[in-house]
Amino acid sequence: MKIAVINFSGNVGKTTIARHLLAPRITDAEVISIESINADVDQATPLRGSQFGELQEYLQTVDNVVVDIGASNVEDLLSLMRKYRGSHEDFDYFVIPTVPALKQQQDTIATLAELSRIGIPAARIRLVFNLVEDGTDISESFDALLSFIKEHPMTRASMRCRLGVNEIYERVKGTSTDLAELAKDETDYKAQIAVAPDISEKLVLAQKLATRRLAAGVVPELDDCFAALELS
Ligand SMILES: Nc1ncnc2c1ncn2[C@@H]1O[C@H](COP(=O)(O)OP(=O)(O)OP(=O)(O)O)[C@@H](O)[C@H]1O
Ligand SMILES: [Mg+2]
Repeated sequence: MKIAVINFSGNVGKTTIARHLLAPRITDAEVISIESINADVDQATPLRGSQFGELQEYLQTVDNVVVDIGASNVEDLLSLMRKYRGSHEDFDYFVIPTVPALKQQQDTIATLAELSRIGIPAARIRLVFNLVEDGTDISESFDALLSFIKEHPMTRASMRCRLGVNEIYERVKGTSTDLAELAKDETDYKAQIAVAPDISEKLVLAQKLATRRLAAGVVPELDDCFAALELS
């Protein structure tokens, strides 16, 4: 299965969702990041046609992959997809993370409209409602987006494709941690804390214990969200 994770908006959880929701649940899937080379410099490096050519070639050689498209490259990627007509067919699905802030909902609408314009059918597009606070009603917090989809059914939104706010993602950011693996880790931190010689060592172990507990708590949510995506 080949999935593109995309949204015109930055900070909606594309990388988080590629790494922690999708890749671990697709056999042998690797994550390819299309981020600006100079991500920390003001001026984004444009995605060049030659790189897109390479990406297309690479996609022909692998079975399972998740392509994480950094916000600064989305526009270029989509215009290249129009140029290389039919190249969107290299992807089985386009997963669009979205968050409640109105600006991000509007960007999500723009992303949907653009994917539709390229000719990607609703059946190959999925939304993931991210950063949903516990107990909030998606139909209320994503009202702008859902109203748009009702009028223009460019995707089939499932309210069950939701992820709550969870600090685990910050804790493991930039590492290759697999949350399901971490949740299963059986290290007896309590015993280690009891015999640790000083406070600072105890605190380090306590942090690890807390991170594992968070992982154990979030994995069922990720499993449910993935199942609700109904990727086949
Ligand atoms: N469900 C969540 N709960 C808490 N924090 C989250 C959640 N999803 C994402 N984050 C955090 O929000 C920030 C942005 O997420 P992420 O880097 O995945 O976004 P992005 O869409 O890939 O951004 P960019 O377009 O800049 O690449 C990160 O610090 C990440 O840890
Ligand atoms: Mg990212």
